[in-house]
Amino acid sequence: MMGLALTLGLMAVTPAAPDRLGASACGDCHGTAFESWRSSAHAVSATNAIYRAGFRVEPRQFCVDCHTSTLARAEEGIGCASCHAAAREAGAPAAGHAVALRARADLRDPALCRDCHEFATPAFEEGAVRMTSLPMQRTYSEWLAYRAAGGAGTCQSCHMPGGDHGMRGAHDPDLLRRSLAVTVTDEASGARLTLASAGVGHGFPTGDLFRHLTVEVRAAGDAREDAWRVVDRMGRRFETRLDGATMRAYKVETADTALVPGVPRVVALGTGRGRLEWRVRYHYGSERDERRGVVTAEALFATLATGTIDGPSRARLGQGAPPRADYSASPRAAWPAFSRARSRRRRAELSLGSRATAALYSRSASR
Ligand code: HEC
Ligand code: HEC
Ligand code: HEC
Ligand code: HEC
Ligand code: HEC
Repeated sequence: MMGLALTLGLMAVTPAAPDRLGASACGDCHGTAFESWRSSAHAVSATNAIYRAGFRVEPRQFCVDCHTSTLARAEEGIGCASCHAAAREAGAPAAGHAVALRARADLRDPALCRDCHEFATPAFEEGAVRMTSLPMQRTYSEWLAYRAAGGAGTCQSCHMPGGDHGMRGAHDPDLLRRSLAVTVTDEASGARLTLASAGVGHGFPTGDLFRHLTVEVRAAGDAREDAWRVVDRMGRRFETRLDGATMRAYKVETADTALVPGVPRVVALGTGRGRLEWRVRYHYGSERDERRGVVTAEALFATLATGTIDGPSRARLGQGAPPRADYSASPRAAWPAFSRARSRRRRAELSLGSRATAALYSRSASR
């Protein structure tokens, strides 16, 4: 009954008149921008399942301020006005427009993206929010480092080619695969992979703090999913410590091994004699998220590259071409059984109510 009353209440306050600042109103005249925006992560930043699950558990204004439009309906996510509305003091609305528009030069400035893609970890203490010195996301600083090292791209030139508002990023597995170069060397001293990011203007991975890459190996022919062994991990690592004076827990970053543009990373695969299978995977969540199995495997991993290294070729050192990497087309192909098991477990857990979800997303309290 309460749910019904709430729904009716919401309907009563939803304006029936067209929302002049909403994306679809802009879309009446800017169809191309609207269609590409609609396919972007920005369009669903307030409504996608993973964000909603987090927000249900931790309904902070802090999240809303960044994940939703300021001037349009909240469910729109990062709408047109979030980027196009100029500061209030900018003066009269542009001709035919409901708002004053940001100037083109300001639109092309990465500072526009910095406002949301660079921020500190908050601490919620006695009802107040205090920003700590630990960056939660720092894509903009990573981009500054890339520029200082001679990189030429901007957020807009890479993410909005030709004015495309689709903002392809980590949720596009094909883009992820193109963004990683893997070279295999197989010598008597052991097999190695050399990994480098390609065409990325910040860390790989960047963005959400739990994203990471793993390099994994197993004996060729051993089809068991749990035979995979992680030999390297690229991303940020955190640790929770206790402040003895205040008795408050706080989080510190203990390592950041994300791939830096132009700096290859060499990974030894071991010197075993048999044939070896390897793979490189992108992880959207933390190791804890994966152990809990609350989110489907499809939403947790993308396999970026796989290959096999022939043991015997090591004996014929220096002869013939090095083993070729075999880039698997389907990220799911390598672990269908695993994926099915996780999906089943997830359905079971979700049907128990929101407890499991709550456990997963309470991490956002210390994100
Ligand atoms: C009634 C039609 C109409 C609506 C509705 C409309 N626009 Fe426009 N918009 C135009 C026209 C016409 C131009 C000028 C076209 C040109 O200069 O190429 C324009 C230009 C623009 C430009 C380019 C300005 C520049 O610097 O070149 C942007 C950005 C823009 N509109 C954003 C928006 C946004 C955001 C909304 C929704 C709040 C919106 N428009 C709603 C018709 C409209
Ligand atoms: C995340 C920020 C962001 C959002 C959200 C966004 N835009 Fe844009 N938009 C930009 C930037 C940046 C440019 C300038 C691109 C350039 O010039 O390279 C731009 C350019 C434009 C242009 C000019 C295109 C051209 O090539 O002349 C129009 C029109 C426009 N946007 C409309 C919209 C509409 C309509 C929406 C919502 C459906 C929207 N934008 C949402 C950032 C955004
Ligand atoms: C008002 C805040 C805001 C602004 C301004 C903003 N973003 Fe975002 N952006 C977000 C949020 C929130 C998400 C996460 C969406 C989600 O829930 O997946 C996001 C996600 C993204 C993604 C990830 C897409 C993916 O598939 O992984 C890219 C790329 C991106 N933004 C690029 C940009 C660029 C480039 C600009 C500047 C032109 C920009 N953003 C400006 C808030 C913003
Ligand atoms: C030289 C091109 C380039 C530049 C410059 C660049 N990016 Fe990216 N970005 C990429 C590529 C390629 C990917 C996909 C690979 C990855 O996830 O790192 C990506 C991924 C992302 C993601 C998704 C990461 C995730 O974990 O979900 C976000 C968010 C993002 N970029 C934001 C930005 C912002 C903000 C800027 C400017 C401060 C920027 N990018 C500058 C190329 C670029
Ligand atoms: C200052 C801006 C900002 C604030 C505040 C913020 N986020 Fe985000 N969030 C982002 C951006 C930008 C991304 C995209 C980074 C990426 O793609 O890796 C993101 C990504 C996410 C994702 C991953 C979405 C996906 O599609 O993979 C979740 C979940 C999330 N945020 C939840 C939250 C919650 C819950 C809060 C509040 C406790 C919060 N965020 C506060 C900017 C913000």
